[in-house]
Amino acid sequence: MKSSLMSNYGSPDLEFDHGKGCYLFTADGDQYLDFAMGIAVNCLGHCHPALVDALTRQAGKLWHTSNLYRISQAERLARRLTDLTFADRVFFSNSGTEAVECGFKMIRRYQHNKGRHKRKRIIALSESFHGRTLAPIAASANPLHMEGFLVGDAGFDQVSFGDGAAMAAAITEDTAGIVIEPIQGEGGIRIASKEYLQQLRDICNSHDLLLMFDEVQCGLARAGSLFAYQQSGITPDILASAKGLGGGFPIGACLSSNKAAAAMVAGTHGSTFGGNPLASAVANAVLDEITAPGFMDEINSRANYLHQRLQELVERFPDLLQDITGAGLMIGINCKVNNSELMAALTTQRLLSVKAGNNSIRFLPPLNVSQNEIDEALTIFESVLKNWQP
Ligand SMILES: Cc1ncc(COP(=O)(O)O)c(C=O)c1O
Repeated sequence: MKSSLMSNYGSPDLEFDHGKGCYLFTADGDQYLDFAMGIAVNCLGHCHPALVDALTRQAGKLWHTSNLYRISQAERLARRLTDLTFADRVFFSNSGTEAVECGFKMIRRYQHNKGRHKRKRIIALSESFHGRTLAPIAASANPLHMEGFLVGDAGFDQVSFGDGAAMAAAITEDTAGIVIEPIQGEGGIRIASKEYLQQLRDICNSHDLLLMFDEVQCGLARAGSLFAYQQSGITPDILASAKGLGGGFPIGACLSSNKAAAAMVAGTHGSTFGGNPLASAVANAVLDEITAPGFMDEINSRANYLHQRLQELVERFPDLLQDITGAGLMIGINCKVNNSELMAALTTQRLLSVKAGNNSIRFLPPLNVSQNEIDEALTIFESVLKNWQP
């Protein structure tokens, strides 16, 4: 049947009817083990009872009022996020790209407020991904995402990921701030070292630039700590979050220090839907689960097991796999065979994964994945590798 949807997603033919925990089911009853989780979104699996409960309770009470009025669910969520992080202030959006966009606006507005009107440029990293609205595509400068969309110079520069000297050299009197994913996702999973993040922090401090971390993918316990930056001890001025925050319900957040937020006075930014009662109620329920005592330890013990077992497969199949990267349950498998073909073979065997740059695939299981589900995924992966026909 001809689709009326735009062709920007190609034409996927696999469709799911319902989901439970780590599994998705087609209308015919075929069961798939989901290690894609809506690209790191369904952080507690499909239809987690506590999230269904929070959603349905709030749905019967109040969905949306707009930010013309106080929203106690959003205030509670913001308070919990600031209590748990470096941040003093939060802006809620509906997606990751909007959370990033808010951060970019804050960086420029901060400098503007200081009377440094030339300081508008933001430096991003090679192979980064910050979303699909106009500013984020200009930041990442991926030709595939950018071509035909931009007008003139959008005010972003790019330097090589991990190269502190190149970053220092790239700062000019027009630079306003730096944006980095502490763990790159779409470009292939790459971790910024603590030393590199410290270099960026030092550069920002010495030029009074704002440092922004994009944790849309690696945040919300995905990498083994509530936010990835907390493992490095290097604190940003601004942090973009989304994906796992709503466990599948659309919500994003831009977290910031008081210093970075000071220029965002009434009227400077907004969103009709951002932080509405329904989205905020679900995100509060996500936080209840993720911050429960012992939850993070469980993630890390499962993640260690999965990393170890994948490492064994790399050693057993050195012609097919290059290496394993990532942290926590954000895992990249760099391939020697074509990543699309490997992903397709896994899908045929009913294991869902996600492609990324650098010829890799990602395993992004739910944070509450069980040992049995990990073993099941590893059995499928091993059999696909064993039977691999070039
Ligand atoms: C690091 C990062 N930033 C921003 C985005 C954009 O998020 P969204 O697709 O919700 O707009 C993504 C999405 O994959 C991402 O991985």
